[in-house]
Amino acid sequence: MLLDNAPLGRYRIVVNANEWKETDNDEFERAIALVGEEEQERIRKFKFIKDAKTALIGRLILNAMAVKTLGIRNASLKWKRTDKGKPFIDPACVDGISTANHYSNFSYNISHSGHWVVGASELEFPIGIDVNDHGLRPNCKIDFDEFDDVTAEENFEILKSYFSTFKHIFSPPEAKHMESLRFKSGPVRLLEFSRFWTSKESFVKVSGLGFNFDVARLHFDFSEYHQSDIPKMPTSVMAAPIKVSVDGKDVSSEWMFEQFILDRYHIVNVAIRTNPESLSNSSVYSSSSSTPSSSTSAEHILSSGEKVESEIIHASLDSKVYKEKIEHLHPLPLLLLKPADIIKYLEEN
Ligand SMILES: CC(C)(COP(=O)(O)OP(=O)(O)OC[C@H]1O[C@@H](n2cnc3c(N)ncnc32)[C@H](O)[C@@H]1OP(=O)(O)O)[C@@H](O)C(=O)NCCC(=O)NCCS
Repeated sequence: MLLDNAPLGRYRIVVNANEWKETDNDEFERAIALVGEEEQERIRKFKFIKDAKTALIGRLILNAMAVKTLGIRNASLKWKRTDKGKPFIDPACVDGISTANHYSNFSYNISHSGHWVVGASELEFPIGIDVNDHGLRPNCKIDFDEFDDVTAEENFEILKSYFSTFKHIFSPPEAKHMESLRFKSGPVRLLEFSRFWTSKESFVKVSGLGFNFDVARLHFDFSEYHQSDIPKMPTSVMAAPIKVSVDGKDVSSEWMFEQFILDRYHIVNVAIRTNPESLSNSSVYSSSSSTPSSSTSAEHILSSGEKVESEIIHASLDSKVYKEKIEHLHPLPLLLLKPADIIKYLEEN
């Protein structure tokens, strides 16, 4: 049965949307019938079918993770979004289900890029996921084979302009690190860029703060985790020993990361906040880097919609229970699922 091989509630899922051919219209219609009306409307509005497909697969992944974990019927599942767009389960729809399955800290997130759609969930710890395509970007088509030539002046110029567009995302040490790679090949530099990008995105996606959080405040350090260490799908994984600080304060002990390479152009990063208590006690995760005060803690700056969500996923844990939970928090491999299998599972549940 779908997801039976993973611990309950702890999923890392990847789907290749290309497995859904343009001609699979019947399957698309069966799939869209499995999501709520609002989502159906949103998905049908996409201009390109490829975007509709990835958005739909993302929602199917969320539904499958929630149905499996909470024991709720797919038809009963209702989603809302925070005003920053992060989906969360409407608490009203889980009210009636057995308390045994009522995991109040259940956290989930999805991401799509190119033909890849990824999803991740955790039972007790807030989670964020991001997949990024570092091979192709609007206005910057990069042919990797040509970019292997580190001496080509044209490649230097294209990469210079590409990195310059995104220089605002880097902390000063990160910018220095990127600069130190300037004589490496295009693929090496782009992959390093993408590691920073996905680490920052997945970190921010945990809180749902979106662009309210200035990602240059984050400093990621990959010095103990080289590109060659990153597992390539579908191998098993280890926690990525990545260090992170916010406004210069080392918060690495409060986070766990997993990184995977999907193919030559795509990398995935999963961020798990292993100390969710810090959300309400610390100001480092607030949207502002100014002097901390109680009103700038993450709880306080969250808007009403996000507060609802933060109540769902950040119920406080007794320290003994927390210690036990964290002992079970081992990194997980990605499960490669087929759209047809997720559809079948949701139709049957
Ligand atoms: C919201 C945001 C995270 C979306 O990122 P993206 O790369 O466009 O999209 P992804 O494919 O990774 O993720 C999209 C999914 O995340 C979820 N999502 C939407 N808003 C979210 C938020 N505020 N927080 C977390 N998850 C969110 C949704 O499920 C969405 O898919 P859907 O709309 O099909 O349901 C991004 O726009 C953002 O706000 N980033 C802030 C950090 C930043 O500054 N990044 C720039 C460089 S590092």
